[in-house]
Amino acid sequence: MAEKLLEIKNVSKIFRIGGMLSGKKLTAVDGISLEVDGEKPVILSVVGESGCGKSTLCKMILRLYQADEGEICLSGNSYANKKKYDPMQFRLDVQPIFQNPYEAFSARKPVDTYLFNTALRLGIAKTRDEAEKLIEETLQSVGMSLAVVKGKYPAQFSGGELQRISIARALITRPKLIIADEPVAAIDASMKMNIVNLFKELKDKYNVSFIYITHDLSTAYYVSDYIATLYRGCLIEYGEAMDIMDNPAHPYTELLMNAVPRVGDKWSEELILPDTEEKEYSISYCKFAPRCPYATDECRNKKPEMTLINDNRKVFCFHPLLGS
Ligand SMILES: Nc1ncnc2c1ncn2[C@@H]1O[C@H](COP(=O)(O)OP(=O)(O)OP(=O)(O)O)[C@@H](O)[C@H]1O
Ligand SMILES: [Mg+2]
Repeated sequence: MAEKLLEIKNVSKIFRIGGMLSGKKLTAVDGISLEVDGEKPVILSVVGESGCGKSTLCKMILRLYQADEGEICLSGNSYANKKKYDPMQFRLDVQPIFQNPYEAFSARKPVDTYLFNTALRLGIAKTRDEAEKLIEETLQSVGMSLAVVKGKYPAQFSGGELQRISIARALITRPKLIIADEPVAAIDASMKMNIVNLFKELKDKYNVSFIYITHDLSTAYYVSDYIATLYRGCLIEYGEAMDIMDNPAHPYTELLMNAVPRVGDKWSEELILPDTEEKEYSISYCKFAPRCPYATDECRNKKPEMTLINDNRKVFCFHPLLGS
């Protein structure tokens, strides 16, 4: 069997909140297990409303946070295994794209200096000429060119253009995995699909997988091969995008499906999730039970187990809505 590109095994992140003396804890990521196949590139969208743990999960994958429980492996090597961990190789293999491209580049430096620095300092190009060729080719693949970018500062680009340049920068290292945390949230609505479409093109062209974190369900469904839904730090459903769209198995996913907005819209958090109190994060039974229309006593007393519906589909629920 082919090696997995990424394995997230039962990973948790627990924050202390309210100061050192309060003793309060918040489980921002609660025992999540997810995999990204190594055989062919995929786009895995991670969806869920504000505060459900998407960015915390991203930061653990990017090694910006250490997991408090569980383990993450890239190409079979555990992050915890210091012998196998080569920070330089990691920077080549896993690249981030952030929400606000204006924060990713200094306002006082021409944007192309970042592209050259990435190509030359990480040793991908040996000479300036080689770097120029590589940068031109990569910029072309995101619909830009060095002639357009050279010598210009971030403020001289629109958000969509600058985000495309930051995607090019991420691609220069020829990564295996790109972690894009809300990459279109700050982009003009008319440009969102344009950027998201690029992911689909680049996936095959560069043989790179994407973890696409988003609030924006409509772009997620359009672009994804797989979707993972988080709720209060837990993975509540995972599967092939079309499968999940046609047949949501978790009552929360069903609720989200019924509220799928047009491209660029977010679902109404007020409507679906009026309560973001931290107590919900610490519920030991099903975290969705308090607002689930199908909840039984079992749901209010016991933590559900992950139910495998098929090889590519799992749901964290006692009563999955199978085929309904
Ligand atoms: N460094 C931190 N210290 C304490 N609590 C944190 C920290 N980072 C995140 N949290 C809490 O953990 C939970 C998950 O946060 P996270 O940022 O991962 O959510 P998110 O799904 O990315 O939300 P959003 O969609 O708003 O970006 C939230 O309740 C948040 O307040
Ligand atoms: Mg976030």
